Amino acid sequence: MSVTAPANNAPLTFWPPGNLTRVPYHLYQEPAVLDAEQQRIFEGATWNYLCLEAELPQPGGYRTTFLGRMPVVVARDSDGEVYAFENRCSHRGALIVLDDGGTARDFQCVYHAWRYDRQGNLKGIAFQNGVNGEGGMDPAFCMKSHGPRKLRTSVFCGLVFGSLSDDVPDLEDYLGPEIARGISRVLHKPVQILGRFKQTLPNNWKLYVENVRDTYHASLLHVFFTTFRLNRLSQKGGVVVSECGGNHISFSAIDPIAENGEDYKTEELRSEKDDFKLEDATLLKGIDEFGDGVTLQILSVFPGFVLAQIQNTIAVRQVLPEGLETTALNWVYLGFQDDTPELRTMRHKQSNLIGPAGFVSMEDGAVGGFVQRGIASAGAQEAIVEMGGDSVRSQSSRTTEASVRGFWKAYRFHMGADS
Ligand code: FES
Ligand SMILES: [Fe+2]
Repeated sequence: MSVTAPANNAPLTFWPPGNLTRVPYHLYQEPAVLDAEQQRIFEGATWNYLCLEAELPQPGGYRTTFLGRMPVVVARDSDGEVYAFENRCSHRGALIVLDDGGTARDFQCVYHAWRYDRQGNLKGIAFQNGVNGEGGMDPAFCMKSHGPRKLRTSVFCGLVFGSLSDDVPDLEDYLGPEIARGISRVLHKPVQILGRFKQTLPNNWKLYVENVRDTYHASLLHVFFTTFRLNRLSQKGGVVVSECGGNHISFSAIDPIAENGEDYKTEELRSEKDDFKLEDATLLKGIDEFGDGVTLQILSVFPGFVLAQIQNTIAVRQVLPEGLETTALNWVYLGFQDDTPELRTMRHKQSNLIGPAGFVSMEDGAVGGFVQRGIASAGAQEAIVEMGGDSVRSQSSRTTEASVRGFWKAYRFHMGADS
């Protein structure tokens, strides 16, 4: 084990450079790690997904969201631009905005009525000059220099990202060309929000973002995928890992030849079941709406953004640490404004596949908790992330953990571990 002394001198223990195939379990267990992640990753040189532009269609539209654990307000001002700032009153620290979103001229803290504009500037202090000539704030108090922290914002294909860092590269450079293409492949025209929900996961946030990048588990854990031939490792597909390692795409396309492959039979897998039938087979009916035969595309952006297209289900997910062993997973289901009624019905029906109680994602919600419980007294042990070798390169096989290693490459970089 090598010990590094990152900028704020927190005594974090990582693992030797050059070996991304072993991950120490204590990284999912230590409070100091969670605090350092907030400072170095979420508030560091990263772009964090905040909300959809479609959620702020008009000037005055706002949403509350998070940058890691930091509460944030995102608002569109009358100049048409999107602004984001810490949702913390500069007086005593109360939340400035309490609800999920809406339309507002400005924002007033409920505690002592300090007032902020849509860009997060402190604009008014109740009884600033006191009452009857007594009390009030010091005349020298400068409202301009006392505001909540402001984020940089950048919008790509209708996705609003925010960063507290001046050092983070432009959003498109941060995504890299392949990830940018993967996003614009799906989000290529005006979206419509079909629904949203929040799931609370009983595990460290990193276990979920690893799971999203884990192309190896999909057809093994998710019996439904395999049984109904929605996703098999034998299908055409691959995994793309961005240069920095932190962003990925895994994709697969229906492949009639692979349909009859013997790979799953010979492995004697729990997920290989040929005698299951659906009462209503229209659940699986889909259309090739992007014209490339790709029926599944899971895309992630470091640290906590996911865009998923599974058949005709399109959803964005935001992964947020709430505590060491609690993660918020916020989902928004999308359609497009020009959807036909048939396609809209298909999307609604298929949403039963994906989601906290769906046929597929229910298992992802549970399995992180299985790991968190399994490693309870294994802080000195390590996970093995060696499927497909030790590289973080893009490849056409999904029987690999390349994109999980990619996550850890980016994680080590941002956390200040030796590279
Ligand atoms: S805490 Fe917001 S006005 Fe006092
Ligand atoms: Fe999964």
